[in-house]
Amino acid sequence: MATLTMNTVSAFPPSPPSTSRNSQANSDDATSDIPIHSNKHLLKSYPLPPENGVKTVQPEDLKTPDAHVERDPRLIRLTGIHPLNCEAPLTALYNQGFLTNEDLHFVRNHGHVPDCLDEDILDWTFTIEGMVERPFTLTVRDLIGKYEQATYPVTLVCAGNRRKEQNMVRKSKGFSWGPAGLSTALWTGVPISDLLSQAKPIRGARYVCFEGADKLPNGYYGTSIKLNWCMSPDRGVMVAHKMNGCTLHKDHGKPVRIIIPGQIGGRSVKWLKRIIVTKEPSDNWYHIYDNRVLPTMITPEASANLPDVWKDEKYAIYDLNVNSATCYPQHDEMLSLDTHAKTYKVRGYAYGGGGRRITRVEVTLDKGRTWRLANIDYPEDAYRNAPDGDTLYGGRMDVWWRETCFCWCFWELDIQISELENSADICIRAMDEGLMTQPRDMYWSVLGMMNNPWFRVAIHKEDRFLRFEHPTQPALMPGGWMERVKKAGGNLSNGFWGEVKTEDDEKATAQEPEKQIVMTNPKVDRIISLEELQAHAGEEEPWFVVEGQVYDGTPYLDAHPGGATSIFAAAAQDCTEEFLTIHSENAKAMMPEYHIGRLDEESLKALKNKEAEAESDSTRAIFLQPKNWNKAVLTSKVDVSHDSKIFTFKLDHPEQVLGLPTGQHALMRLRDPASREAIIRAYTPISYGDAKGTLDFVVKIYRPTKTQAGGKMTMALDSIPIGHFVDFRGPLGKFEYLGESVCRIGGKKRTVERFIMVCGGSGVTPIYQVLRAVAENDDDETECVVLNGNRFEEDILLKDELDDLMDKGDYRTRLVHSLTKPGDDWTGRRGRMDKAFFAEQVGAPEKSDKSSMVLVCGPEALEKTVLESFTGMGWKEEDILFF
Ligand code: MTE
Repeated sequence: MATLTMNTVSAFPPSPPSTSRNSQANSDDATSDIPIHSNKHLLKSYPLPPENGVKTVQPEDLKTPDAHVERDPRLIRLTGIHPLNCEAPLTALYNQGFLTNEDLHFVRNHGHVPDCLDEDILDWTFTIEGMVERPFTLTVRDLIGKYEQATYPVTLVCAGNRRKEQNMVRKSKGFSWGPAGLSTALWTGVPISDLLSQAKPIRGARYVCFEGADKLPNGYYGTSIKLNWCMSPDRGVMVAHKMNGCTLHKDHGKPVRIIIPGQIGGRSVKWLKRIIVTKEPSDNWYHIYDNRVLPTMITPEASANLPDVWKDEKYAIYDLNVNSATCYPQHDEMLSLDTHAKTYKVRGYAYGGGGRRITRVEVTLDKGRTWRLANIDYPEDAYRNAPDGDTLYGGRMDVWWRETCFCWCFWELDIQISELENSADICIRAMDEGLMTQPRDMYWSVLGMMNNPWFRVAIHKEDRFLRFEHPTQPALMPGGWMERVKKAGGNLSNGFWGEVKTEDDEKATAQEPEKQIVMTNPKVDRIISLEELQAHAGEEEPWFVVEGQVYDGTPYLDAHPGGATSIFAAAAQDCTEEFLTIHSENAKAMMPEYHIGRLDEESLKALKNKEAEAESDSTRAIFLQPKNWNKAVLTSKVDVSHDSKIFTFKLDHPEQVLGLPTGQHALMRLRDPASREAIIRAYTPISYGDAKGTLDFVVKIYRPTKTQAGGKMTMALDSIPIGHFVDFRGPLGKFEYLGESVCRIGGKKRTVERFIMVCGGSGVTPIYQVLRAVAENDDDETECVVLNGNRFEEDILLKDELDDLMDKGDYRTRLVHSLTKPGDDWTGRRGRMDKAFFAEQVGAPEKSDKSSMVLVCGPEALEKTVLESFTGMGWKEEDILFF
């Protein structure tokens, strides 16, 4: 057994420090209020876990698929309400000591928690299949009753631990873990090698895949590790059914899960259903697109189009890397300089990967010029003293022979307070027995995983106190020196934690200040309850909420460019995200006119909870819903020109109808791959409104040029990998074509015998919908003149499809393309679509009894020209409709 080479810390766990402003230096010996338990039945004393508290289902979970899971409210939720991804406050986690109880254990769920009732635990089955001579199915009853059990402590660490720091440098594709994405428990179960030996892997088998019972948008959660790791006793891979002596908590895999010591938590599959022995690594979506560290130069945008890079096993991560964090001083802890104590005990945790032991933790007060050694304590070693045959929770614990370290360790160092006073920061780094150590500089990567640079705590002198500042706070919680430095314009990747600023740094980080627009009326002070709001959920006096403020949309129903339906769809809803992302500064500036009050705090909370969890039934007949976002999975991207693609999405089931009236559009919502902010835009699909099972959009990708940034939405859409989902809501729009010359505009029916359809660029898509409805119906006598403006010939979207509709429409349809940058062989019209063009192609409204209408969809400049040209020729504004 490896022995400690450092001074060991005598007592563990450490004492909880004072969190008050008057906190004294805590250098005197720690006396813990969480004792090392002694269990009478055991031959020796080992650290035992703190007891679990009484938990209840949290109110915010009630409306989610996890309404059956009881949780501790202290957990910090990192991804909103659902699914649950959370960590404990760092101090609370550290103060619990070596073992974490289920209340504070971090949770990483990709989706809902499968429900296994107590009475069904023993009958839960999982399979051992694939490249084995004797595949079999096992019940939990047999797992417990027929195999020898083992118990040992394992620290699980999410590969995203400390990711918030990466996100501060540059937004990665992952959410913001603080440094508490790790926890340690005593796990009881059966070594997986016992099960695999029974199944007998056959020659050529190299991997073992695991699959859980949680069905996610991209299939069941699953991953794989190597077969030889599973077979090696040193690696300690276990099929576990107990955590700290209790049935697994639902969030942690009830009733059975895999536990892989020394590797990232993502491989330890919960709610285990299948163990599959294979020749190749898992092809599960989550194995390929999660838990990888791609080379640092691959951007989030670029990564979306690199399926082969994602699939390259050399970028998959397995063993944890060396890492550490400081827990005391805590973030924002104040240390009085008037204390009698001379020293302060700086302390925290460290861990290595693959069973490797941490052999040093070093501390610097001068940014790495000089280092001092901290003392290390490995509470895990206590279990090595267990004599053969000793059992804990029904599992043997004779682990004395195992040389590997599966758990975190603790370090501490007394530092003179006068030295802290004269330092700007405390940085730490750990090193393992293979001499692998933490780097000074971050290795940023697209998923932001395995972040392990030196952990730096900044020191500020404030009056007679020292205030300590950690790098970040988890999730969206403000605070931390990284945020502060970034806001002040520092470049966090300059090698000096952003604090040394050069002119170049300043230029690189200079940002346009955001324009703030006031959307409230200062004279309005009414407080509105949820009941009052909900009384306005219908089409009569629709009220809606933006940033907690209530607005009455009634006076704007007719004028809204998206039609009254856009406002009805938002009635009694919190539409903050959509409103802010879709609307222009001008639209926002109009808001005080419609402001009628503020929703009270409780109501706002209740409303958000209600909406976040409005799960729609995936068996419903119609896909689009006006009030709920629904997911559709991207199944293909096909190039149709140098910059345009057809994006095809799969609906919930093959019989599901899209539900989009002709001429209306759907809202598409996705996340910016870099910033994770929602981007929402309206698009008209090219699928038929009654199409079943799929949804097609043709989209022009606006890539960045030397002079212009790329299109935020189209770039983000293009970066979405096949198999990923996008949210849709709808239908929306004030215009609808009912067929045979009848349309509905703003709810009123109207007959139109001639459409002048003016479009530019991707504005052709709603026009195409209406034109197709006319041209493909021989009984429809409506005339359609399509005027389509573009720059180059290759920019014309749906060119062949438009030609085809011209054939079908015959005498009823006419199409003119006009190009501003045509090639030499272009025989069509050249030049802008300007006044002269419209006069030549359309002219004044006809005097006959024909009812004509102009439909326009294109860039703002085109819309302006159309309005001026047509009104100038005598057209009435109400006959010109902008999509
Ligand atoms: N297993 C299933 N079936 N589904 C999941 O979402 N998440 C993985 C892993 N096993 C996951 C899973 C990830 S990424 C981690 S870090 C660990 O579970 C977290 O385990 P915990 O939630 O018990 O702490």
